[in-house]
Amino acid sequence: MAKKSITININGTPRSGEVEDRLLLVHFIRDDCALTGTHIGCDSTHCGACTVLLDGTAVKSCTVLAVQADGREVSTIEGMEGAALHPLQEGFFEEHGLQCGFCTPGMIMSAKHLLDNNPKPNEEEIRCGISGNLCRCTGYQNIVKSVQYASNKIQESESVGGE
Ligand code: FES
Ligand code: FES
Repeated sequence: MAKKSITININGTPRSGEVEDRLLLVHFIRDDCALTGTHIGCDSTHCGACTVLLDGTAVKSCTVLAVQADGREVSTIEGMEGAALHPLQEGFFEEHGLQCGFCTPGMIMSAKHLLDNNPKPNEEEIRCGISGNLCRCTGYQNIVKSVQYASNKIQESESVGGE
């Protein structure tokens, strides 16, 4: 099968490859770029473990073709890495928002999309924001608290920064 040259900006780094049209974005991310923090938890587009941001919007990367992301910006869980924990990472740690952790990268990327667009979500909005992500362990309660923690932390740091 003919291959196409693509370049996707992933976490600020251009990643190029020769791919078949049918290659899924999640496989490009995991197999071609070795960014294995993005998980695959189903073959039915239901679990959300593969969630990444595509031009800032949360998408299930198992439902996007790699060629569709050509020339675009993708953020994965690895892009959250910094000198300090991101407030969402801190929230999941402090509020016990994970157990096995399999759903966590996708959950955090969905929560990031939510907070980027709605910095002060109420509980219902948080539950709606993560409704595409399944967790078999936590019962979701602590995930909601984790996102609330991150929201509060971001508000605090912005109010301190604005003083
Ligand atoms: Fe389950 Fe993508 S791997 S929704
Ligand atoms: Fe195990 Fe969510 S922490 S699936």
